[in-house]
Amino acid sequence: MYRSHFAVFAALVAISLVIIVQGASLSDEVDPAEVPDFYELFNNPDAHLSLTDGPDTIQFVGAHGYPVERHYVTTEDGYIVSLFRIPYSHNLQNQDEKRPIVFIQHGLFASSDFWTSMGPNDGLAFLLSDAGYDVWLGNARGNRYSRNHTTRSTSHPDFWRFSWHEIGYFDIAAVIDYTLATENGQGQEGIHYVGHSQGTTVFFVLMSSRPEYNQKIKTAHMLAPVAFMDHMDDFMVNTLSPYLGFHNVYSTLFCSQEFLPYNDFVLALMYSVCLPNSIVSSFCSSSEETTVIELGRKNTTADSVISGVSPAGLSTDQILHYMQEHQSGHFRQFDFGTKKNLKVYGTETPTDYPTELITSEMHLWYGDNDEMSAVEDVLRVAETLPNKVMHHMEDPLWDHMDFVTNWEVRQLINEPIIDIMNKYEAKS
Ligand SMILES: *[C@@H]1O[C@H](CO)[C@@H](O)[C@H](O)[C@H]1NC(C)=O
Ligand SMILES: *[C@@H]1O[C@H](CO)[C@@H](O)[C@H](O)[C@H]1NC(C)=O
Repeated sequence: MYRSHFAVFAALVAISLVIIVQGASLSDEVDPAEVPDFYELFNNPDAHLSLTDGPDTIQFVGAHGYPVERHYVTTEDGYIVSLFRIPYSHNLQNQDEKRPIVFIQHGLFASSDFWTSMGPNDGLAFLLSDAGYDVWLGNARGNRYSRNHTTRSTSHPDFWRFSWHEIGYFDIAAVIDYTLATENGQGQEGIHYVGHSQGTTVFFVLMSSRPEYNQKIKTAHMLAPVAFMDHMDDFMVNTLSPYLGFHNVYSTLFCSQEFLPYNDFVLALMYSVCLPNSIVSSFCSSSEETTVIELGRKNTTADSVISGVSPAGLSTDQILHYMQEHQSGHFRQFDFGTKKNLKVYGTETPTDYPTELITSEMHLWYGDNDEMSAVEDVLRVAETLPNKVMHHMEDPLWDHMDFVTNWEVRQLINEPIIDIMNKYEAKS
């Protein structure tokens, strides 16, 4: 996720909490019917159009002359998610050859748009296409391209009752099967996978809870891997997870809603939280400092593309689930509270993900200055993985978004990844 955005979101979460706490009586039992629905409270129907009207992945990719397609995939639990595909390279004219499949999954607050921001000279999706791959870009349920369901409406809380568990368990499983079932996919033994941030979490979830999917993976690249989160050093998470990282009145009020649709309400809130008298104005200044440090390291063109397309939409449960990890020190399923846990999991606490069952060839790419993915936490999950290769970034300043927009990402990340995939293809 994008750090300076994240700081502003943090402020928004804090504000939402203040609103919630002021509006709620602080008893232990909350009647779910009385949970305020922020989506309805602040919804401005016109504002939702602002992102829908802007350029989409089709335009971002097409602008560089590459062929691009949109595909709709229905998951086992009825969500309809969008994939974008660069089926072949117009430079290579390789449409009649067999092209190995590669699937790329974005992080929290993001969408497939992120992978187009660096353009054809540096961007992973374009470089892979020009290396002869059949490139697929995922979109998690709930984001701007995946707000659809066979029966549920996005204006009903039931639509938003999911975290990254369901994104991994259902969405990623469905899209792997979908790409392998295409004409080009038939006869291929598996796919190459690249994920950033939450795009790695969902891979850990799927491969540990449905281990049969490991057979469909040729190589997997985790950029800024996020499984355990005890050492995460993010100001927002440190500040808020003591409140939201457990099942309690706060988390009940915050759960299962759309988190921050891109609308006028959000923009107005961003403005007001950054006024000097605001209790959370420190979030805003911390984001300014970050920007200064990042100057000269990030591709500013790509950064502004990304600002224009985020937040791309998600459920508050994705955030709660991460905060639970931060508090519990476990990488495990969503904590619904003892009573519902007993019903859902048969135990009082949620089930841990058996990451030792992940037999795929795992490449972990990680940096020392990554506030979301601390080195200790990466090493902890790595210890459990039977088939891994560690790629530690030498640059001590390397942070979470460097994996997408660092101006040297081509040489330091993208070309090495393509080399690994090419070697795999050459020997098989
Ligand atoms: C930044 O990305 C743009 C594409 O969005 C590209 O045209 C430009 O060359 C990149 N600049 C640097 C310094 O890498
Ligand atoms: C949702 O998916 C259905 C079935 O594919 C489709 O008919 C409908 O147009 C989609 N709605 C939106 C808003 O994309």
